[in-house]
Amino acid sequence: MAATPPFKAGERSRPTGLFRTKSVEQSIRDTQEPEHALRKELTAMDLVVYGVGVIVGTGIFVITGTVARSYAGPAVALSFVIAAVVCALAALCYAEFASTVPVAGSAYTFSYASLGEIVAWIIGWDLILEFMLATALVAGGWSQYVVSLLDNADVHLPGAISGAGPGFSFDLPGALLVLVLTGVVVTGAKLSARVTGVIVAIKVAVVLLVIFAGLFFVKAANYSPFVPEAVPSPPGESAIHAPLVQLLFGYEPAKFGVMGIFSAAAIVFVAFIGFDIVATAAEETRRPQRDMPRGILGSLLVVTVLYVAVALVVTGMQKYSRLVEAAPLAEAFKSVGHPFFAGVISFGAVVGMVSVVLVLLIGQSRVLFAMSRDGLVPRGFSHVHPKWGTPARTTVLTGVLVAIITGFTTVNEIAEMVNIGTLFAFVVVAIGVIVLRRTRPDIHRAFRTPWVPALPVLSALVSFWLMLNLSLETWIRFVIWMAVGFLIYFAYGRSHSRLGQGIRTPPASLAP
Ligand code: ALA
Repeated sequence: MAATPPFKAGERSRPTGLFRTKSVEQSIRDTQEPEHALRKELTAMDLVVYGVGVIVGTGIFVITGTVARSYAGPAVALSFVIAAVVCALAALCYAEFASTVPVAGSAYTFSYASLGEIVAWIIGWDLILEFMLATALVAGGWSQYVVSLLDNADVHLPGAISGAGPGFSFDLPGALLVLVLTGVVVTGAKLSARVTGVIVAIKVAVVLLVIFAGLFFVKAANYSPFVPEAVPSPPGESAIHAPLVQLLFGYEPAKFGVMGIFSAAAIVFVAFIGFDIVATAAEETRRPQRDMPRGILGSLLVVTVLYVAVALVVTGMQKYSRLVEAAPLAEAFKSVGHPFFAGVISFGAVVGMVSVVLVLLIGQSRVLFAMSRDGLVPRGFSHVHPKWGTPARTTVLTGVLVAIITGFTTVNEIAEMVNIGTLFAFVVVAIGVIVLRRTRPDIHRAFRTPWVPALPVLSALVSFWLMLNLSLETWIRFVIWMAVGFLIYFAYGRSHSRLGQGIRTPPASLAP
């Protein structure tokens, strides 16, 4: 690759030191190297489908029940509203970045352009955690529904391979799903988008069925109390499982009550993860400046309405304390004597969660792809397959890793880790919007976040507040993951960074 091209006036870049930044123009140029370019074929509608496809999954189908039962009661509907507000603020920041820097890698690329290489590395490393664990989480939820459907058909998987057995248990269905979908992703974005489209239609139909059929069985008595009174955490439960905010401010760790609504919001937040992944597809979007904001905000709006409605209906159908952990939506229908609806819902959940895993896998591989293209991880991972036009090696590597994680973990073990990683990315993106407005006021922004800096500041604060509502244990794991990331950066990324080495793509080599 030829060295430093002449840069345009205004195209500032700080190519030295830990906070060296990659200019926006440079990020866009890198995507156009023929060897490392992704195809541009997605439209705004594709993005909304893509968004709903990845957003609606284990969060609503599995976690709603657990959280209503253990943290918030019927007020879980309010928890969804709180989580949605946090996401909407973050979405307004994401939309500006995604429409300004339409390059694979989402928050990673955004922070490279605004906050500097070290911050970009931290975010990239953090996103790898988020995506890999989120994929494993959803594959795990999917597997629970498969096991339950098989049980209905009188086919019983041995505990050792269903992921639900006592003692050693490997989640074989979940791991296999991840491997098969990795194969689908490798063969190209268009195929994946088509498959996603069909699946999303089935999923949305099933969610609407829950809402409209369920309405007939809602009993007002089940909403009382709407906000159950706070109860102290069981005496045997160690402080490590209590939300950090309760420990920091000296509250007696408790469940339910007003604090319970926030704890629940920090957990159901996982149900919204996905709109940020829409931003990772910016580079494959035909008209990113116009379509990214529409895609991100549109999908967020659709799912918020669906979630609040589902939460209200399900807690109205069945007393919150009686909701079950596995397949709560289907079970609510069984509890009112409608096993047929329950079967349809289970089937829809199984089909619907496939698309979540699929899109998460795409998002994951694109982040690693972007980091590799910048030399922060070995360049081989950003090689694009000549026929399929996808980062095939990266996709296979992440797919196999995720399959292993899925096999050995459970949904509840990893939900909080996914959330802390995502919320952290939100904080950084919000700060990035403010910084990029100051450092690069000149660049064209197709979508501008309103009320800068007030809105991004608020976004960063509320995201951080939700992070504080996660357990001490989650914080400790997160800090360890980040420390490992720093070690890798200083041992490899810092010296191999293409920006650090002064390698830039000359304008002359741009693909047509
Ligand atoms: N939002 C995705 C889900 O709920 C991760 O499954």
